Order: sequence, then C-alpha cells, then structure tokens
Amino acid sequence: MAAGGVAGAGVLLGRALGPRRAAAVAAFTGACTAGALLLQERRLRAVAKTLDRRAGLAYREAEDLVRLSALLGGSTPLPRLREGAVSPDLAAVLVRLVRERTPQLIVELGSGSSTVVLAAALRAAGIDGRIVAIEHDQAYVAHTVGLLADAGLTDLVEVRHAPLEPFPGDPDVAWYRTAVFDDLAGVGLVFIDGPPAFIDGRARRPALPFLVPFLDEGAALVLDDADRPGERAALTAWTEAVPGLVVEAVSGTEKGAVVLCLPASG
Ligand SMILES: C[S@@+](CC[C@H](N)C(=O)[O-])C[C@H]1O[C@@H](n2cnc3c(N)ncnc32)[C@H](O)[C@@H]1O
Repeated sequence: MAAGGVAGAGVLLGRALGPRRAAAVAAFTGACTAGALLLQERRLRAVAKTLDRRAGLAYREAEDLVRLSALLGGSTPLPRLREGAVSPDLAAVLVRLVRERTPQLIVELGSGSSTVVLAAALRAAGIDGRIVAIEHDQAYVAHTVGLLADAGLTDLVEVRHAPLEPFPGDPDVAWYRTAVFDDLAGVGLVFIDGPPAFIDGRARRPALPFLVPFLDEGAALVLDDADRPGERAALTAWTEAVPGLVVEAVSGTEKGAVVLCLPASG
C-alpha cells in the first residue's frame, strides 16, 4: 500500500474506532508485522545453515571421489555412488581396508556399486582374492552383474541370489537364506549393507553372530548406516554377544559407519 493509502486507512480507522482504539490497533498490527518478520528471518537463517552444511558435504564427497579414483588407479569407471549405494567416503575406507588387510575372500551383504568398488580395490592392489556378494533381489543380481561387466571385473565376483527367509535363530527377522554361506570359509572382510531397511529396520541384526564361524582370524567387518536405530540396536546386541568385539566409528561418513574387529583368539 502506498504511503497515502496507509495514511488514508489510518484516518478511516480513527473515524470508525476513535483515536485511542485506532492507535491500539495500529500498534498491534505493527507488532504482528515485526513478529512475522523476525520469524521469517529465523527461518531463512535455518535454511541458509542447512544449505551451508549440504555444500560442505558435497565438497567433501567430491574430495573423497577424487581420492577414491586415485586409490583405484584411476582406470576403473565407477558406477553411481551415494543415495541407495555406498557413499564415496565409505567407499574410500573399504578400498583402504582391502589394501591393508589383503583379504582372500570378501563377503558382501547387499550388492551394487560397492561390489564394483571392492573388486576394483582387489584388482588395483594386485590381490589374489575374490568376492561373494549376497543379494536378496533377483533383479538386483542382474543389475550388479551388469555393473561388474561394465567395469571389466566379472571374474573377481560371484553374485549369489539369496531370498530373505525367517532367520533360524531369530524368526521374527527375515535374513538371507543361510545355505548360500555353506561353502564359505576364511572370510577376511565383510561389508554389511543389506538387507535393506525399507524391508525391515532390524534386518541386519543376524549378520555378525551368524558370520563369526566363517571369518578368518583378524577379519574386519564394516557396517554401513550405523546411525540408524535398527543398526544401533544390532550393534548393542553384537557387543553383548561377542565379548571383546572392537567397534570403531568411521569419522565423518555421510550415513554413519563402523568397522568391527573380533578379539584375537588365545
Ligand atoms: C543399501 S542397498 C546396498 C547397496 C550396495 N551396497 C551399493 O553400494 O550399491 C541394500 C539393498 O537394497 C536394494 N537396492 C539398492 N539400491 C536399490 C534401488 N535403487 N532400488 C531398489 N532396490 C535397491 C538391493 O537389493 C540391495 O541389496
């Protein structure tokens, strides 16, 4: 409203309500406007803070991607990372663990881009190892096999289809058909990134207790999404079930991740 319009409205208000009431209404309206502006300013500050945090994260992810590519020798075309797939920060941790621990057998629960990253890490480090990737979704098996073919890494990986079934020791939870693990032994590294939480938030709970007998001494396990309630509950149950289990948070990862190591025997 133009200044003349405001003054005109003030005069009309004065005539209708009398000068004292009109002044009170004007003061009240002013206070409301100031309050609304303050609220608006607070909201804008919160939005700016969120955008700032996201920009920082995007920059760190870009740095991690460059680092990841360098760790893999720059020769493997990487599939899309983040969102449903492993994020570049954790992918770089996986590559480092492969290089440090030189596992002969890697087991992955929940296949996809991370399968390519792990296979590329084996190849780049010249490790004579292999990967068994466990996947509950038949269509996703084909997706992962396609990613591996695009990257020229099919020979290092077997993607096994394992439908979800009530887990024998914990029948409330559906987990991978356990028979698919029967022939595995001496597992040096495990990446736990499935079954997906959209099926059941508790779905990863059986993983560690079930896998212990298949592990090599000194094996490491990586759990993604460790900040979610289902994974936090699983971690609590695992530390109670396996005395001396070492749980190390991977700092600064987008979705929260931990590295787990069994206590040395003897
Ligand atoms: C957290 S994801 C595993 C992601 C995988 N480790 C990676 O880095 O790509 C767990 C499961 O969700 C399913 N999944 C992953 N991405 C999906 C998508 N975009 N749409 C539908 N299912 C998906 C697959 O069955 C997968 O095994």
